[in-house]
Amino acid sequence: MMKKLFLTLLTLICVTPVNAEKIVGLPALSIPANNPQSTDKIALGKKLFNDVRFSSNGTVSCASCHQTNKAFSDGVPKAIGINGLIGQRNSPTLVNAAFLSSLFHDGRRQSLEEQALDPLTNPVEHGLENHLSVLDVIRQDPSYLKGFLSTFGITVEKIDMNHVVKAIASYERTLISGNSRFDYYFLKGKRPVLTISEARGLRTFRRKANCANCHEISWDHALFTDNRFYNIGVGFDTLRLVLPEFLKTANQDASQAIAQLKTPQKAALGRFIVSRQLKDIGAYKTPTLRNIALTAPYMHDGSMATLEEVVEYYNKGGEKNEFLNPAIFPLHLSEQEKEDLVAFMKTLTSPNIHSVKN
Ligand code: HEC
Ligand code: HEC
Repeated sequence: MMKKLFLTLLTLICVTPVNAEKIVGLPALSIPANNPQSTDKIALGKKLFNDVRFSSNGTVSCASCHQTNKAFSDGVPKAIGINGLIGQRNSPTLVNAAFLSSLFHDGRRQSLEEQALDPLTNPVEHGLENHLSVLDVIRQDPSYLKGFLSTFGITVEKIDMNHVVKAIASYERTLISGNSRFDYYFLKGKRPVLTISEARGLRTFRRKANCANCHEISWDHALFTDNRFYNIGVGFDTLRLVLPEFLKTANQDASQAIAQLKTPQKAALGRFIVSRQLKDIGAYKTPTLRNIALTAPYMHDGSMATLEEVVEYYNKGGEKNEFLNPAIFPLHLSEQEKEDLVAFMKTLTSPNIHSVKN
């Protein structure tokens, strides 16, 4: 009898997760089977992420545009890369990117591993001719050799870009944050954690203002994104003049229609570039709103400087266009309701960006 009780207790203790660091507000994180997390790999990824030698003039690293103190965004409307060149889009936060089902504003990449190849050879970001120069730097740096050897058990000549992007992605999977005041209030039922205005803002967010339709909140976690794409009208003006002609050509041959556009116009097509479906013209991925107070300016083109401006934009029903999503409509919010919404969004800041071992 005693023995049985003892064994039951022992099993109970053993199945209790050893990694006690539980973050409130997030779903379980799935790690790809072919790229398990390890302490060595995460450290290696962090070093690669911060290394300016992987750029054509030795000044740009991933961290140039994804800065720790700005929740891994950069504070400028459009990303500034090599030689001060300005890209087409706003740098998104990387915090909780590990939970996204597609990456980039238009969702053109499916995994963090796949994504990490792109900035390195992007002519206005790291500006490298090709990925070989990344491997050259690595092969000549003894500390990298040690890192790749201990992480992947491989020697110099075996190191390739697959290893590089696996390490970067593993590091990115540690950039996780929850535990905001919203989480304790909504998911843990703690009181009082939000002010009256913030709590009213949450209610408005979920009901009258319809925000949670896309910036999703589930009963046991909240990523504030549904991983889908919507035209909410931002930046549509870039397309207006060329649109009639574009649509005519696109009906026959989407590739040709795209090829006729200038770079900013191409970027303004949004999700259409990936899906080639007309309803996706000017559509972008719903971004998370976690840590939103730290990641101004906002939207794929960085066109809104403040959260007040964002709320005004939704309140007027967005920028009209023939592809505007029906979930965007005039909200008729009072001044108080607008203030409450902004106050609520500021409760989504996490006390720290966790570097969890997962
Ligand atoms: C010059 C600035 C710049 C540099 C350098 C840069 N990025 Fe980014 N990053 C961006 C911008 C801008 C986007 C969005 C681009 C788009 O959607 O078309 C982005 C998007 C991302 C995303 C997708 C996030 C999401 O929410 O979909 C990830 C992940 C990412 N970058 C990781 C990296 C890594 C890893 C590196 C280094 C290898 C890097 N970035 C270098 C500016 C930069
Ligand atoms: C129909 C879906 C949908 C609804 C409803 C919606 N959003 Fe959004 N939201 C998006 C999409 C998509 C974007 C990205 C648009 C872009 O980049 O051009 C976005 C962007 C944002 C941003 C900027 C995020 C960033 O990192 O740049 C904020 C803030 C925001 N929404 C808040 C709200 C609030 C507040 C409401 C309710 C008043 C709301 N949203 C309603 C889909 C939606």
